[in-house]
Amino acid sequence: MDEHAKLARIAELQQELAKVNDLDLLLEKTLTLARECTGADAGSVYIRDGGRLVFSHTQNETLRRRLPEGKKLVYQTFTIPIDSGSIAGCVAQKGRVLNIPDAYAIPPSAPYHFNPEFDRLADYRTLSLLTAPLITSNRETVGVLQLINATDAGGVRRAFRADDVVLVDAFAGVAALALERAQMTRALILRMIRLAGLRDPKETEGHVNRVGLFAVEIYERWARRRSLSEHEIEHNRDLLRMAAMLHDVGKVGIPDAILKKPGRLDAAEFDVMKQHTVIGAGVFGSSHSALDAAAAEVALCHHENWDGSGYPGRGGEGENTSVRGVVGENIPIFGRIVAVADVYDALCSKRVYKDAMAGDEAVALIKADSGRKFDPEVVAAFLDCVDQLPGLAARYAGS
Ligand SMILES: [Fe+2]
Ligand SMILES: [Fe+2]
Repeated sequence: MDEHAKLARIAELQQELAKVNDLDLLLEKTLTLARECTGADAGSVYIRDGGRLVFSHTQNETLRRRLPEGKKLVYQTFTIPIDSGSIAGCVAQKGRVLNIPDAYAIPPSAPYHFNPEFDRLADYRTLSLLTAPLITSNRETVGVLQLINATDAGGVRRAFRADDVVLVDAFAGVAALALERAQMTRALILRMIRLAGLRDPKETEGHVNRVGLFAVEIYERWARRRSLSEHEIEHNRDLLRMAAMLHDVGKVGIPDAILKKPGRLDAAEFDVMKQHTVIGAGVFGSSHSALDAAAAEVALCHHENWDGSGYPGRGGEGENTSVRGVVGENIPIFGRIVAVADVYDALCSKRVYKDAMAGDEAVALIKADSGRKFDPEVVAAFLDCVDQLPGLAARYAGS
């Protein structure tokens, strides 16, 4: 690839990354693009957290192909220190790209070593590794990008080439900036949630993160059943991931006497409580970004029920005045999806006043409410991915 083509490719990649705002989805996209550019079979991203690197995302085409159609790789997160003992730690510490042609032939004089444990557990064989630091324009290392097993067109593993190194080095700079921006957006969202959480202790960071993750998984299955375009799916996943996290921010406007009341709410109190949907929508209602619109939609509609028995509804308009809530497909899809994701996580979480429900019991309850509380098509999409959800949730366990 000549210099001009490389620059053009980097500019293209930059544009691709600029379309993604959510942190998790950005990491996924970064890996996909970097793997595409270099023909890498697998890759991982580590995010810096103080003096350690958190293993945050991974992709592995060979392992993915061993899974049944539509299933995703579920992986454990772990952290490693930023020091020269590991390959990623060493790259973060030194701030330089490291190209290793054969992980099992690293000279004993190298300070770092390759940990074969993952290969052994996953029945995988790592050969080449290209590891690049993610350094922002203020020279801050925000993470590490690692690509594994460059593969030629015939599927044969090879070492990464000098060309790959130049491209990945430049791409890592672009990805670092995008990552910094996504981390800022995520931090702002979490700060808003913490504000709402001061009022309602049930809305923990763990809960909202899980609802965001689950909503996106359900949406993806729902969208594929409807054969939506990849472009639309990707765009909506990004919006929904963030909007779903903000479903209950309207609780900032509900008085403590009601939010924190230990017993059941009486009818008048419940009417006040219902207002958190309208208040939440109001927070985002005045601005017109796609994220604001999605967040307003989720805040307003996540307690609407498929059969019209939910709230806040439209205040009883329409022919049938006994039905006050919005009905069926008139409830925006993001609202219908977050309704399922929110209830499922609440059922599976331990709260001060209740134990966590077993997963299959929670699934049975959601199934039983299909067509009443929940959209049957959304429940079907939920059932398609429910076995993946506990694995995803483990990343946000205990909070
Ligand atoms: Fe709510
Ligand atoms: Fe919630």
